[in-house]
Amino acid sequence: SNTRSYSIAVIPGDGIGKEVMPEGMRVLEKAASIFGFEIEQKWHDFACCDYYARHGKMMPDNWKEEIGRPDAIFFGAVGWPDTVPDHVSLWGSLLQFRREYDQYVNLRPVRLMPGVPCPLAGREPGDIDFWVVRENTEGEYSSVGGIMFPNTDREVVIQETVMTRIGVDRVLRYAFDLAQKRERKHLTSATKSNGIAITMPYWDQRVEAIGAEYPDVSHDKYHIDILTAQFVLNPDRFDVVVGSNLFGDILSDLGPACTGTIGVAPSGNINPEGIHPSLFEPVHGSAPDIAGQGIANPVGQIWSAAMMLEHLGEAEAAAAIMRAVEQVLATPSARTRDLKGAASTDACGKAIAEALG
Ligand code: NAI
Ligand code: MG
Repeated sequence: SNTRSYSIAVIPGDGIGKEVMPEGMRVLEKAASIFGFEIEQKWHDFACCDYYARHGKMMPDNWKEEIGRPDAIFFGAVGWPDTVPDHVSLWGSLLQFRREYDQYVNLRPVRLMPGVPCPLAGREPGDIDFWVVRENTEGEYSSVGGIMFPNTDREVVIQETVMTRIGVDRVLRYAFDLAQKRERKHLTSATKSNGIAITMPYWDQRVEAIGAEYPDVSHDKYHIDILTAQFVLNPDRFDVVVGSNLFGDILSDLGPACTGTIGVAPSGNINPEGIHPSLFEPVHGSAPDIAGQGIANPVGQIWSAAMMLEHLGEAEAAAAIMRAVEQVLATPSARTRDLKGAASTDACGKAIAEALG
C-alpha cells in the first residue's frame, strides 16, 4: 500500500518525561488515524537515570544500532539529580544525540497561547508569534582552547569561537527558508559585531550573502544586548530570529519565558537534510518536584509532536494539533495546575486528543 508511515523512536526518560510522553503519543496516534498515516513506534528505556542505576551508563554502547534509523526521535526529559549528577545524565544522553546526529538547528516557537498568562503586560494571544533558530554545533561552544600555567601567576585560559562557512551558511539558510514560508517573511539576526570584532562581522557578512539568495525575505540585525530588550519591549516585531550557539541559547530561553509557563514550550533539534534523525522534546526538564503526581502539563510534549509532524511533512495534522491545543488551553477546566487549573496530565492530554476530532 502507499500509506504514509513514520518510524518514531520514543524515549520518555526521567520524572515527568514518563508522564507526559503517553499524552504526546496519544495525540500523535489520534492525528495519525484522522489524517491517514501510520506511526511505527519503538520505545526505549535508556537515556534515563533508572537505566544508569542498572547499567552504570545512560545508554548502551550500541545505542545507535538499538535506535536504528527512525524518521524522528520523540523525547521526554532526562535528569534525576538525586541519583545521577546532571552533567552525567545530560552528556550521556541528549547531547550524544545532538552531536552524533548533527542536529545543527535548535528550533523553538515563541507564541503566546490562550489561557497562558503573559508575563509581559498588555499582550494578547496573536500579539507574539515568532521562531528562534539557534546554531547548535559550533560557535562559542567550542572545544578549542585550554589552560596554561595553571595555579601560577601566569595562569591563562583561552576558549576560541569557531565559525565555519559551512556551519554558518547552513543554519542561515534554514532560517531564511523558514522565514520565506511565513506570512511576514522577515528575518532578524542576532549579532555583536561592534564588540566581538572578528567572528560577528563574519556572521553579519554571511547573513548578507545568504540573504541575497532570498530577495522576497526582508532582514535586519540587532546587537544581542538591545535584542534581548526588544524581546521584552516589542516582541510583536519578530518573525524568525537567528543566532549563533550562545546568542541563540539565551534567546531561546528568553523568548518562551516572555510567553509564560515552561510547561507548554516545545523544541526541535533538527538535521534538516534528514541524513540523521531529528529530535523533538519539550523545553522543560524532568521536574522532580512534581514527578509522580500526575499533574505535569502535557502541552510541551504534545506541541513537540506537532513540530515533529511538521518536520515529517504532515503539516495539516500539525496545524490541527495546534488548534486542538489552543482550544483546550482556552478551557479553564482542562488546564493543569501550573495554569491555575485542576486537570490531571492525562485528562488534559485526553481533552486535546478529543478536540482533534
Ligand atoms: P524543570 O524544567 O524540570 O523544572 C523547573 C520548574 O518548572 C519546576 O518547578 C517544575 O515543576 C516546573 N515544570 C517543568 N515542567 C513542567 C510541566 N510540564 N508542568 C508543570 N510544571 C512544570 O527544570 P529543573 O528543575 O531545573 O531540572 C530538573 C531536571 O531536569 C534536572 O535533572 C535537569 O538536568 C533536567 N533537565 C532536562 C532537560 C531536558 O531533558 N531537555 C531540560 C532541562 C532540565
Ligand atoms: Mg538553555
